[in-house]
Amino acid sequence: MKIIGFLGSARVNGRCGKLLRRALEGAASKGAEVKRYDLIKCNIMYCRGCGKCFEHNPELTIGKCPLKDDMRSILEEYVQSDGYIFATPTHELFVTALMKTFLERKIALTSEEDPAEMPMARPGVKANFMKMASFIVTANAPEELESVMGNPCYEAIEAGLMFEEVVTQGKLFAGGMRTITDEAFSEKITQAYQLGINLVDAIEKARKES
Ligand SMILES: Cc1cc2nc3c(=O)[nH]c(=O)nc-3n(C[C@H](O)[C@H](O)[C@H](O)COP(=O)(O)O)c2cc1C
Repeated sequence: MKIIGFLGSARVNGRCGKLLRRALEGAASKGAEVKRYDLIKCNIMYCRGCGKCFEHNPELTIGKCPLKDDMRSILEEYVQSDGYIFATPTHELFVTALMKTFLERKIALTSEEDPAEMPMARPGVKANFMKMASFIVTANAPEELESVMGNPCYEAIEAGLMFEEVVTQGKLFAGGMRTITDEAFSEKITQAYQLGINLVDAIEKARKES
């Protein structure tokens, strides 16, 4: 079982990074191999919207993108993994630009054989077993504003996952990040650890039942 975490914060050891680290430790405690990508350290160019990746070669697992950067190798690892943890701070009521740039480039995992139809997962992307994802969203806004800050972030991440047929497993919203007490943050850290455990457990359970 392999779980990859993607951090959309430029502060690799900030609030979001700490929560992701703990979530991956939770997944590792269940025997998962874990890997973390700090997107700020990756060379990921903006999608140019040329459509080449999804308009051609529908037989490929990863569509051919003319941009030469780290995205190809990240996607190769992505399709070979079993679960994902997407962690992003809220910036301007949405995922960070770092996370959004990454999410847009994942369109190379879909193909659009018929332009009149919705894109679909490429062969090898579509799971022949259950793949799942969990989300961590941090914000300065208080916990009660999860629907305003968190929901747009969850939906942005889920948009691509829907085509990839990856099921949402868990969501952790951590509000009030600027003023949170050490005690309250430590409770969030505990919840993040459990998020990682739950993700591995849920994938294993779904596979046993399928
Ligand atoms: C440019 C920018 C925009 C932000 N926009 C929001 C926002 O819309 N809502 C909110 O609750 N917090 C907002 N914040 C606060 C961040 O969400 C918060 O600092 C972050 O979640 C902490 O995680 P980090 O330590 O990993 O950066 C913003 C911060 C920055 C730098």
